[in-house]
Amino acid sequence: MATRTPLISGNWKMHHNHFEALATVQKLNYLLGEEEDLQVEVSVHAPFTDLRTLQTAIEQDKMPIVLGAQHCHWEEKGAFTGEVSPAMLAKLNVRYVIVGHSERRELFGESDEWVNKKVLAILAHGMVPIMCCGETLDERDAGQTDAKVAGQVRAGLEGVSPAQVGGLVIAYEPIWAIGTGRTASAEDAQATCAVVRRTVAEVAGEDAAASVRIQYGGSVKPANAAELMAQPDIDGALVGGASLDAADFAGIVRH
Ligand code: 13P
Repeated sequence: MATRTPLISGNWKMHHNHFEALATVQKLNYLLGEEEDLQVEVSVHAPFTDLRTLQTAIEQDKMPIVLGAQHCHWEEKGAFTGEVSPAMLAKLNVRYVIVGHSERRELFGESDEWVNKKVLAILAHGMVPIMCCGETLDERDAGQTDAKVAGQVRAGLEGVSPAQVGGLVIAYEPIWAIGTGRTASAEDAQATCAVVRRTVAEVAGEDAAASVRIQYGGSVKPANAAELMAQPDIDGALVGGASLDAADFAGIVRH
C-alpha cells in the first residue's frame, strides 16, 4: 500500500494581515521544532497580501512549513479584475492551493466546472490542488451526503490524468461542521472519506486511490485531531479557526 504522509493545513481565510501572519509562522516554527522530528507535512494558507512576506520568512529560516494559497483563477493572465493567476502563485513558491472551498462555492458562486478548470491549471503550474468537497446539513439529513461528495469529486477530476490524481489532496469538509464547533464523528468522517477514495478509484484507478491524500476539515481542534486522523482513510486535516493560533495549530500537528 502507498505510504501517505499526512498533510495538516491551516486555512486562515480572511484573517491575519502580513504582520500577524509573520508573527504566527514564527511562533509556529518555534513550536514545531526540527522538520526531521515531524511525522507530517504542514502548510499554511494565508491571504494573498501575506504570501510574499511568508515566502521570505519560510525560506530564510528554513521553516518546516509549506506555503499555501486559498484560491486562484485558472487563466495565466488577462482582464480578470481582482483575480490572481496560478503562475503568480507558483512564482512565490506556493505548493498547495485550496480549490472549491465551500465558502467560495456558496458565497462566490464557484461551480464544479470552475473547480475543475482550477485543478487543471494549478497542476499545469507544478502546484498541488487541495480540492474541497462536502455536504450541507439539509443534504446530510436527506441522506444525500455520499452522492453529493462523489459528484463533486468526479466533476473536479474531469480530464486529470490518473498519475496526477494520485498526487493531489482532497479535503472532505462537511459544511455544517465548518466554524460551528460541531465535528463529524470519527466514524462518519471516515465513512465519507472512504466514499471519496472509492470515487477516486472509479475515476482514476486503484493506484491513484491508494496514494491520493484525503483531509478532514470542520472544527478540527487539538482535542479531536488524534481520533480523526487515526482513521484509515483520513490523511490529515484542513483546519480553519484553530490554525489562527500557533499553539492550537501546533497542538493539532503534534496530536
Ligand atoms: P473550521 O476549522 O474553523 O471549522 O474551518 C474549517 C475549514 O473551513 C477549513 O478550510
